[in-house]
Amino acid sequence: MIAIGAIIPILGCAAEESSASANTPSQSISNSTDSSSTAGNEKSVAETGDTSNGQKQFVGLGCSACHSLGSDTIVGPGLSNIGIKGDQYILESIVDPKAILVPDFQDLMPESFGSVNESDLNDLVSYLKTLK
Ligand code: HEC
Repeated sequence: MIAIGAIIPILGCAAEESSASANTPSQSISNSTDSSSTAGNEKSVAETGDTSNGQKQFVGLGCSACHSLGSDTIVGPGLSNIGIKGDQYILESIVDPKAILVPDFQDLMPESFGSVNESDLNDLVSYLKTLK
């Protein structure tokens, strides 16, 4: 008799580890305390932000040293159209800049902006959303 042995299950890539995600972009600025009735709105960020404070933050935090508001590159890309990318992208780019690297740029953006307070961050995102 012929024994049919050795049916070896091939387990593909089960042990693949992604070392790239050591930092989960867990910053959430959605738990805002204001309960004003902007009803039925899923967007947690940047709907209620104060864009003029956001603009001040942009300058005050030093963003403008690296980013123009037009299409010119300073150190980072010009932000003329950043608003079309949406809240989440903008927020993540700020609080976890390494998570999304813009092609052709180095990761020179400081990672310290995650510690900016929620309210200012929200205003900043709001402001950037107007750039489109
Ligand atoms: C030291 C220079 C530097 C500073 C300061 C800086 N950035 Fe950046 N930023 C960069 C670089 C370089 C990139 C492109 C690489 C990357 O994606 O991280 C970038 C990327 C971005 C992007 C994504 C742009 C795109 O086209 O997708 C956003 C949004 C952004 N920065 C916002 C900010 C904001 C807001 C601040 C201030 C809170 C700031 N940056 C401060 C250098 C900087």
